[in-house]
Amino acid sequence: MAAPDIAFPLPTIDLRGFVSPVQLLPRLSEEIGLEVWAKRDDVGSVGLAGNKVRKLETELAHALSLGATHIVTEGSRHSNATRAAAAAAAAAGLRCTLVLCHDEPQEPVGNLLLDALFGADLRLVGDVSWIELAELTRKVAEELEAAGERVYRLPIGSATGRGAASFARAYAEAERQMASQGATFRSIVHASSAGSTHAGLTLGRMLRGQDTRIIGVVVAPEVYEDVPGNYLRLANAAAEHIAAHIKVRLEDMEITDRYLGEGYGLPAPGVNEAIDLFARLEGIVVDPVYTAKAAAAVIDMARRAELEGPVLFWHTGGYHALFDPAMAARVFADTPRLNALQL
Ligand SMILES: Cc1ncc(COP(=O)(O)O)c(C=O)c1O
Repeated sequence: MAAPDIAFPLPTIDLRGFVSPVQLLPRLSEEIGLEVWAKRDDVGSVGLAGNKVRKLETELAHALSLGATHIVTEGSRHSNATRAAAAAAAAAGLRCTLVLCHDEPQEPVGNLLLDALFGADLRLVGDVSWIELAELTRKVAEELEAAGERVYRLPIGSATGRGAASFARAYAEAERQMASQGATFRSIVHASSAGSTHAGLTLGRMLRGQDTRIIGVVVAPEVYEDVPGNYLRLANAAAEHIAAHIKVRLEDMEITDRYLGEGYGLPAPGVNEAIDLFARLEGIVVDPVYTAKAAAAVIDMARRAELEGPVLFWHTGGYHALFDPAMAARVFADTPRLNALQL
């Protein structure tokens, strides 16, 4: 029998237009000796897709219900969350200001180019810490309020209880999609930073009463002072939003920084191989900042026989960093087939 949806009383707006597919990755599975499927949240309609769009469906519904005129949020210039927020705000007829912790590059590329294209006002505040960035963003929001805007403030990564709740629902969605193909998953692996994806999937699993292993591969540990504590807060806030009488505990979540490498947006072992294998075997793009670190985890854990299959690789989107010349050069340098192109 198909798995039911979970009760979901939160208002939403439709930004995706369709249910992102779940598909078997047969050639990758053969290569690494483990059955791997992908949940393709990298495909969708608004803003070139990604996991953030799912969260924005509940967040912007709430913003609109409060009469907001202006979305304000922050991130790095590689941020998919800011790009998705800019696109979703455009689609919902809201103004958007993004506060980005990077100096102005010579040429706007990747997500930065898209942020501008979607009509967001960009404030580049230089190389500041995530904590300083949040403070600067608070000030920008205050300025806009003083100028008469009704600001809806999205925290970094759209990490809210409402956003996480949308991922609890996504767990049941993926389960139904697998079941309709006569399959099931024993593990989920996904890239994780501000945490609402992990918090929501974990809550979804608990609401469905399952023991699936859900592994959040941390790509930006500095985003909070207390990463697990914040993930926990998000999971329990999500439970409250959907009136689920459940208490998520720290031991219900599994996060790892084993595939972080040198840090956020920086090289890590296995990343370039993951980009190469996913592209060459499956025609699927993973990016060096987020999803390739989760893909590298799947490949490495499969080779070490540390992961029970079938595995669902939750593709959270965001390949645009690959179009940043510095990023592309790093990937090319390690991949002989691409290096030979001498781009
Ligand atoms: C492509 C991609 N994957 C994963 C994540 C992490 O999602 P979350 O903030 O829910 O941990 C992000 C956002 O930072 C992202 O852009």
